Amino acid sequence: MADHYRLLIDGQWTDAASGKVFATHNPATGEHVANVAEADAADVDTAVVAARRAFDTGPWPRMDAAARGRLLLQVAEKIRARGDELARMETLDNGKAIRETRAQVNASADYFDYYGGWADKLEGHVIPVRGRFHTYTVLEPIGVCGQIIPWNSPLPQAAQKLAPALAAGCTMVLKPAEHTPVTALVLGDILMEAGLPEGVVNILPGFGHTAGAALSRHPGVDKVAFTGEVATGQEVLRASIDNLTKVTLELGGKAPNIVCEDADLDAAVRGTLFGIFAGAGQYCDAGPRLFVHRAIRDAFMEKLMAMTRRIRVGDPLDPETHVGSLTTREQFDKVARYVEIGRNEGAQLIAGGAPPDDPGLAGGYFYLPTIFDRVAPDMRLAREEIFGPVLSVLDFEDDEQLVADANGTDFGLVAGLWTEDMRRAMRLAQRLKAGTVWINTFRQTQISASFGGYKMSGIGREKGLSGLEEYCEEKTVWVDLNDAGIGYFDS
Ligand code: NAI
Ligand code: MG
Repeated sequence: MADHYRLLIDGQWTDAASGKVFATHNPATGEHVANVAEADAADVDTAVVAARRAFDTGPWPRMDAAARGRLLLQVAEKIRARGDELARMETLDNGKAIRETRAQVNASADYFDYYGGWADKLEGHVIPVRGRFHTYTVLEPIGVCGQIIPWNSPLPQAAQKLAPALAAGCTMVLKPAEHTPVTALVLGDILMEAGLPEGVVNILPGFGHTAGAALSRHPGVDKVAFTGEVATGQEVLRASIDNLTKVTLELGGKAPNIVCEDADLDAAVRGTLFGIFAGAGQYCDAGPRLFVHRAIRDAFMEKLMAMTRRIRVGDPLDPETHVGSLTTREQFDKVARYVEIGRNEGAQLIAGGAPPDDPGLAGGYFYLPTIFDRVAPDMRLAREEIFGPVLSVLDFEDDEQLVADANGTDFGLVAGLWTEDMRRAMRLAQRLKAGTVWINTFRQTQISASFGGYKMSGIGREKGLSGLEEYCEEKTVWVDLNDAGIGYFDS
């Protein structure tokens, strides 16, 4: 890992115009990781101008789509070749267990493979209109994109934003989160090494209220893609109004995870724990609201508690570790605050509720897997996003009330359910208001499957073909095949 990182603007690594730098730390130890140039509005301006030039006159949007695709496939290979280094860096910057960051590096490479494959397959349509016209559509790149990403999965988030935009032929300015800027900058290095023309991808680490805000209101930006919290997403959307910038938002959730009385309980326990404690619960598609049918409640809870006790919280670089540290001080404080809220609301704390007592972990933001039982649907614990290792257990008896309770939050990103009765499963899947529903699994996402939110979980879709189309404008072309033309003023 280098000890100083700079901004990527127009193919050059540069210091911030202000000369400012900020430090990034290892959340598992508190140790200094690196100094990073701190972009603000002036750098955003320079980068947007570069991206605009690359879009309006550069080769990237104009080259053969297949050649764009081939370059993306090379990027995928280069990510894999530097996989160990990237996983280690990500763990040092973010605190997530190395067994997860390894998988995430591979997933990040997959984005470039998948969208590289799409680059020359973006087909329009011929429309059978009335009269003698030839009318067809073409998909064109939307233009200069501002992309703002959070700290919970820095490299996959960067790949998820960059790869489809590149495949479409866009140019972009990416702002990584201030807490975890390192791997996005290494990805920038990989992109330049693969031969990406200058100005196509610009990477500007910096803070939200300066660099992020400047990017989201910049008149030179055609589309903003944002992932983060609801309040920030609303800011980004407000900032888009003057220029009518296209905006897609991915804003997290508070997903229900439903265990019916006929479920395979062992599978449901494993899926439930993976859904809430992997990544210390810092996933938008985590499953923090567990609904257990009363008939199997005791049996299920016994298995759940037994397996929770086997979760190893510890040094994120140790391959044996299941759960590393939270990524930021704010997240650590937020989790502790919600544990307090849960106690005060009368929920029953049955696991965790504190940092581990291992003195070796005292320097980091570690928190034990935490379970609250007897949670009621109207408690804050059951409605607000905590984004940490806190599971709330609710129970249910009939499916009508279950659906009402499961849908009873402002969010609608994902939902999961466990039952061996497929008719019931599909009936429930129809009624759950969520962009993704999992049946007998949890937190499965792949790049080929679209992902996004109902309700306040977001606007638009990422991943899959839907995610690629968000980076395209559809142009309709009419060709008049009549010799006579339009007769309106002839008589
Ligand atoms: P945030 O939404 O403030 O930060 C996400 C990104 O937005 C970062 O790059 C940040 O620099 C940028 N940003 C912040 N203010 C901005 C502004 N005014 N204009 C443009 N960009 C701005 O999220 P934060 O504060 O890091 O986390 C707080 C909570 O948000 C978490 O506890 C969690 O509940 C939720 N969250 C949800 C995520 C998701 O995947 N949907 C990811 C991260 C956080
Ligand atoms: Mg914030």
